[in-house]
Amino acid sequence: MQKTLTALLVTLALWLPVHAEGEWVDIVNGTLWQDTDGNTVQAHAPGFLCRDGVWYMCGEDRSRAFRPDVNLYSSRDLVHWTFLGKIIENGVTDPELGRRRMIERAKLLYSEKTGKYVVWCHWESHNYGASEAACFVADSVQGPYRKVWSGRPLGIKSRDCNVFTDDDGTAWFISTTEENQHLGLFRLSDDMLSVTDHTQLFPGKSREAPAVVRVDGRYFMLSSACTGWRPNQCKISHSDSLTSGWTPLENIGDAVAYRTQAAAVLTIKGTKQTTYLYVGDRWMDPDLPNSKIIIFPITFDGTECRFHYCERFRLNPVTGEYQIPD
Ligand code: GAL
Repeated sequence: MQKTLTALLVTLALWLPVHAEGEWVDIVNGTLWQDTDGNTVQAHAPGFLCRDGVWYMCGEDRSRAFRPDVNLYSSRDLVHWTFLGKIIENGVTDPELGRRRMIERAKLLYSEKTGKYVVWCHWESHNYGASEAACFVADSVQGPYRKVWSGRPLGIKSRDCNVFTDDDGTAWFISTTEENQHLGLFRLSDDMLSVTDHTQLFPGKSREAPAVVRVDGRYFMLSSACTGWRPNQCKISHSDSLTSGWTPLENIGDAVAYRTQAAAVLTIKGTKQTTYLYVGDRWMDPDLPNSKIIIFPITFDGTECRFHYCERFRLNPVTGEYQIPD
């Protein structure tokens, strides 16, 4: 008995430090990811949600290039992704989807108030004339999701989109509005199922693929120009308030955002440091299913942001540390 107990304690003592420190993973850019079943990950223009140390990623399944379903994956380390299923599916989830409408840029939210999972997305006709958004809700992250609403938010034409949840739990829908002229910032209701008001940002600047992150109380927004699947210059702006005071757009990264278009900025709150990761799509038009998800660290120093694009880096998802090889 004594011996068994000692053996158990020794095993625990060896196991604990390793797991408290986490295991390092290699993030390799430019290749297609495989899920834990060995299938290609299809989650383009991904949206992320982190709950209790688990990352959920939803995104466009472009296996059928112009009839994207929405896939959901989970991971603890951003490398080993388990496929959890198709959460929104053409011909299944909604009668319009796959006929008069297609889905792009599905983004995942969780409402602390209702305990429900919510997806907001671009809800579009094949000539991009509809310019609508849609919202889906489910009791569990894996669904089933049902459509709550689709249309032009507050009557405003809306295309490329993203979401942002602030530290106080308020959620926002951000989209490219009025024929790609402006960015619209829409506050969501407490249950996250409808928009309550609208603020126009960057009027006439034609920005899309917005991605917002909050760093030490300051908001930063990345966005691209509107050149379809072709990459272009990423620009950044910052403000102390979401609804006003955004600084003029400034170039960041190289002239084509390292051949990507922003999808998200992840905040890894590690035990040793907080790390920010840029996530973007390297679209492979006309071979859209082969588009790659690209991730690299970005750093903030006051109002300055820097991209650290690299073909590979090591990440410790528990401590938040990362290493970029020379
Ligand atoms: C991009 C947009 C994508 C998709 C594409 C279609 O500008 O970011 O989400 O809509 O255009 O051409």
